[in-house]
Amino acid sequence: MQVVHSSAALQEALKGKSKIAFVPTMGNLHAGHIELVNIAKQHADCVVVSIFVNPLQFDSAIDLEKYPRTLEADCEQLEKAGATIVFAPTVKEMYPDFDGKSLHQTMTITPPPIADMLCGASRPGHFAGVATVVAKLFNLVKPDIAVFGKKDFQQLMIIRALVKQFNFSIEIVAADIVREGNGLAMSSRNGRFNAQQKEQAAQLNQVLNIAIKTVKSSQSDFSTIEKQTAKQLTKQGWQVDYVSIRDALTLKPAQQNDMQLVILAAATLANIRLIDNIEFCAKPLN
Ligand code: PAJ
Repeated sequence: MQVVHSSAALQEALKGKSKIAFVPTMGNLHAGHIELVNIAKQHADCVVVSIFVNPLQFDSAIDLEKYPRTLEADCEQLEKAGATIVFAPTVKEMYPDFDGKSLHQTMTITPPPIADMLCGASRPGHFAGVATVVAKLFNLVKPDIAVFGKKDFQQLMIIRALVKQFNFSIEIVAADIVREGNGLAMSSRNGRFNAQQKEQAAQLNQVLNIAIKTVKSSQSDFSTIEKQTAKQLTKQGWQVDYVSIRDALTLKPAQQNDMQLVILAAATLANIRLIDNIEFCAKPLN
């Protein structure tokens, strides 16, 4: 496995590779990321993993600074997983006009309106930052396929829109969410919880499963179930950003005759903001 830090070294490492699978990450890797690498390996001999904490997608300088950077441990995991190349560029390499303070000089991609709802509503500019860095990474790595996790369901939809609207010839492969035994979706942020908080954090997944059961079995409308679910989380000590039942194909608020649904939530526990989602089929209408 080769670890490269510049675009020039990446181009050198990519020479002669006929099919490339790509896994973009921000590092601090866990089993969820490694699963993406395993999926990538099924599609190509050459698997490139990028590790780059992208300043453009952070709305708070403190969050950006606090984001764990664990390159050495990440590379050990990636070597074991069978990655071919790790691309870990510097901020200067990715954003040459960055002056260390403001990214205003950087040309950015404006994502479609699905980026303004849910996580985009509470994190303005976040998905523009994601779309921009992913487009730049696609241009540098030039992969045939790229693997993204469904954990970031809205992000995945925006990446699909990016590929379609900017004519990238890249197949996007979606990976299922990898969870802890208690249902908690694996996340780099989970490392900030103590053991008791980590147990409690599984509540997010539990309430979503209960909400799905209620959708399937009751006459309640979606909005009532969303409100009940949010109320339950609040009672358990969470600060709820949103709980929302959406059409899984369009991310529009779910209608009674939609069949492929997804329930998504974002909430904060002990100052740590988590997201989760579960796709499900609506009860067939008789
Ligand atoms: P990061 O949060 O590091 O996630 C990298 C990839 O891992 C994303 O596709 C994400 O959905 C996936 N992932 C994270 N946790 C997962 C889990 N529990 N199960 C399955 N997949 C999981 O997402 C980003 O980085 C950045 O926004 C990025 C796309 C790299 C752009 O900067």
